Amino acid sequence: MTHQIPQPRKIPFLGNLTSIDREAPTNSFMLLYQQYGEIFRLDLIGAKVVVISSHSLLNEICDDKRFSKAIAAHIKEIAVLVHDGLFTAHTLDKNWGIAHRLLMPVFGAAAVRDMFPAMEDVISQLVDKWERFGPEYVIEPAKDYTRLTLDAISLASMSSRMNSFYFEDVVPFVAAMNRCLAESQLRANRPRLATAVMASARAQFDADLKLMTDFAKSIVQKRKANPTEPDGHKDLLDRMLTAVDTKTGEKMTDDSIVDNLITFLIAGHETTSAMLTFVTYELLKHPEALFKLRAEVDEVLGDRPVSLEDLPKMPYTVAVMKETLRLRPPASTRSVCPKEATTIGNGKYSVTPEDIITVNVTQVHRDPKVWGDDGDLFRPERMLDGKFEALPPNAWHPFGFGLRACIGRGFAMQEAQMAIATIFQRFDLVLDDPGYTLRLKQNLTIKPSGFYIRAYPRKRLA
Ligand code: HEM
Repeated sequence: MTHQIPQPRKIPFLGNLTSIDREAPTNSFMLLYQQYGEIFRLDLIGAKVVVISSHSLLNEICDDKRFSKAIAAHIKEIAVLVHDGLFTAHTLDKNWGIAHRLLMPVFGAAAVRDMFPAMEDVISQLVDKWERFGPEYVIEPAKDYTRLTLDAISLASMSSRMNSFYFEDVVPFVAAMNRCLAESQLRANRPRLATAVMASARAQFDADLKLMTDFAKSIVQKRKANPTEPDGHKDLLDRMLTAVDTKTGEKMTDDSIVDNLITFLIAGHETTSAMLTFVTYELLKHPEALFKLRAEVDEVLGDRPVSLEDLPKMPYTVAVMKETLRLRPPASTRSVCPKEATTIGNGKYSVTPEDIITVNVTQVHRDPKVWGDDGDLFRPERMLDGKFEALPPNAWHPFGFGLRACIGRGFAMQEAQMAIATIFQRFDLVLDDPGYTLRLKQNLTIKPSGFYIRAYPRKRLA
């Protein structure tokens, strides 16, 4: 016999909307988890959401045969901008299939290694900035890491320079994108009628959509007018313009290329920037881990710049990244729908294709059954010496699962490792406010809010 899934009391018309903190929905999921446990139901303006927070339930829904990615409310709103781009498409959409098959190899290990020079170029811009400004300058890491990750994905994927480090504020593309993502999040949690009467918010949203689409279209047009020389370096945009999908015999359409370029700029920078910001936060709050990481970096690199060959020689640095992604997954939720009516929890709970099953990744990553009683603590050692490889399937889940898992995982991990090694080789970072305690803000990803540091130069490179 199945059990009823617990649900907080609903309010007429709004359902459970008032149970969700609009600034950081993740915080609400964590609070509701404490009240209702590993599974609870929410009615969010007509959407029937089932939130799961245990590893065993997550492991059950990691099955592409029984469950497929749900285009939840906030993703639907982003689809207004990027249509059936890789992140927002349904798995059965034809354009998703073509883009997935053509672009997966472009983000494979060998291809990502080729992107090393682009990443190195942009990381050096961040280091130069922090060195030149000196320790008096208060740095908001989330902002400079966003500059770094946006410029790196743009340079690596379409050979286009955003030059974010030369702008006092964010570049216009990012300003538009931030407003769009924030508005998408609000729209997802606001009755449609309210959006319909908010004329100025709608006008701003439309103007931002146009700015971003025009930007991507102009990149495509310029490349078509000046294709890369046959013997020249081929980037992701070349692949999008020329490759033919063997299954359908078709190329990507211009619209699909534009949608996916914007998708890469959005998905490829916010998440990695959040990860770098959380790594910085965790290291500054855990001096013993910082000490070990720096000892490793100093031993491997000495006074010279990081190279590709150095990366596998820094396991502690990778453990710090994995542990940070566990405790603070930047994409703190992901959602699936059952393909047909079924049960989860070993037959305990009934779910139907109308249900959106949302994974509370932050809590799953602390499940005591997997991580023990100290799952709330930052302890990179739990990712070392074969322990990571011995984890149960899907216990570590920051990049999603299966067909719809993150295409940029290798890119993000390489870029972040290069950046962390270089930054901690070159600087002593300190908290601007030693008493800072973590506050979160949430857009498409979660990030620390009000988090500032200073950078004392340590080493000049040989
Ligand atoms: C999908 C996380 C970096 C591009 C995803 C998903 C997650 C994720 C959880 C699955 C979403 C879902 O199931 O709805 C992350 C994290 C990153 C990161 C934590 C960094 C630390 C990147 C980078 C790129 C990228 C650097 C681009 C180069 C994408 C795309 C998808 C995706 C295009 C959709 C794939 C598909 O459905 O076919 N990411 N991501 N991500 N990510 Fe990432």
